[in-house]
Amino acid sequence: MNRIFALGEIGALPGGGCNRLALTDADRDGRDLVVGWMRDLNMEVTIDVIGNVIGTWRVGKGAPVMTGSHIDTVRTGGLYDGNYGVLAGLEIVETCQQHGITPSRPLAVGIFTDEEGARFAPDMLGSLVYAGGMPVEAAHNVIGIDGVRLGDELERIGYLGATPCPGHVPHAFVELHIEQGPLLEVNSVRIGAVTGVQGISWQEVTIEGQSNHAGTTPMHLRKDPAYAAAALTVFLREVAKRYGGDQVCTVGKIDVHPNLTNVVPSRVILTLDVRNTNEKVLQKAELEIAEFCAQLEANENVTITRRSLARFEPVVFDDRVITLVEGLARQRGNTVQRMPSGAGHDAQMLARLCPTGMIFVPSHKGLSHNVKEHTDRDDLVAGANVLLDAMLGLAEMEF
Ligand code: GLV
Ligand code: MN
Ligand code: MN
Repeated sequence: MNRIFALGEIGALPGGGCNRLALTDADRDGRDLVVGWMRDLNMEVTIDVIGNVIGTWRVGKGAPVMTGSHIDTVRTGGLYDGNYGVLAGLEIVETCQQHGITPSRPLAVGIFTDEEGARFAPDMLGSLVYAGGMPVEAAHNVIGIDGVRLGDELERIGYLGATPCPGHVPHAFVELHIEQGPLLEVNSVRIGAVTGVQGISWQEVTIEGQSNHAGTTPMHLRKDPAYAAAALTVFLREVAKRYGGDQVCTVGKIDVHPNLTNVVPSRVILTLDVRNTNEKVLQKAELEIAEFCAQLEANENVTITRRSLARFEPVVFDDRVITLVEGLARQRGNTVQRMPSGAGHDAQMLARLCPTGMIFVPSHKGLSHNVKEHTDRDDLVAGANVLLDAMLGLAEMEF
């Protein structure tokens, strides 16, 4: 808990929460703090070519059992998203060391670069590169929302390491995270044994119209990208409602140019975040959105270009890891439910390399990506104890 609060002071926002967007000075300061803690625990620290930090406690034999998550945040983030998973990993190592527990394999804790994707898309970028899903050079060349190149920022903050990617294949990976949704709390369940992660489709949509005078331009002569953006936003909501089930759609970022009261805008750039646990349904949503954009172009005299920012299919975790987490959580007297994750996680990338699973704890009022994000201390501790058992258990399992 002390480490969570100390890390939360870096990039702290007035009134609570944190802003440590990836590869900013605040992210660097947070990394420096956590790397210092890794060294205090005699962990071997490597930094790879995409800035992932892996701290390894060299005990036992063979490939490590790995945990970890991220310590970057969205601009209005909380103290727990990602940070909890990384710092719980350190707590596991410290607990074992203090109690003379020697795992049969090394234990590793990863801090993965740019999980949020809020500054540099796609999300989970560091773990994606670690898993070999994106070439290092392409990742370095990603341009952020502030126009800077990822590789340049990595170098600037001193986290462009030499360890190559793809990274070493762990024996197994298990990530502890807050749920970031309301289900555990509503069901009065303490631990989620996570079955997988839903598919994610992010697009950036640029709508070009014609800038003109708001008072003199008759409605029928307008090429108004703000109207088209609004119609597209409403359409996304309708798609989500019509599909029902797990379908979610969000327009989270809208930039209007020139953004003035009395000017019909020339250009609007907006982002679409569309997710579903079912790949076929996600594809259908993408197709409907493309068709709606084509209709808008024809009807509104605007030009629309779309660029994919992130596209990940749904991921199913390893049943052996899910069953292990579920059983261990029950053994400690917790209530447990199996559940998919609505949020993206580094574990979904590590799942490409080794048997992988996740542990969830409740989020108060289901709030996350919000400065009011909160999880009760007892729940955080319960989750960390399940992580401890899971890491030690995975070290004994042969896959
Ligand atoms: C990543 O954290 C996401 O789910 O947006
Ligand atoms: Mn997270
Ligand atoms: Mn997040």
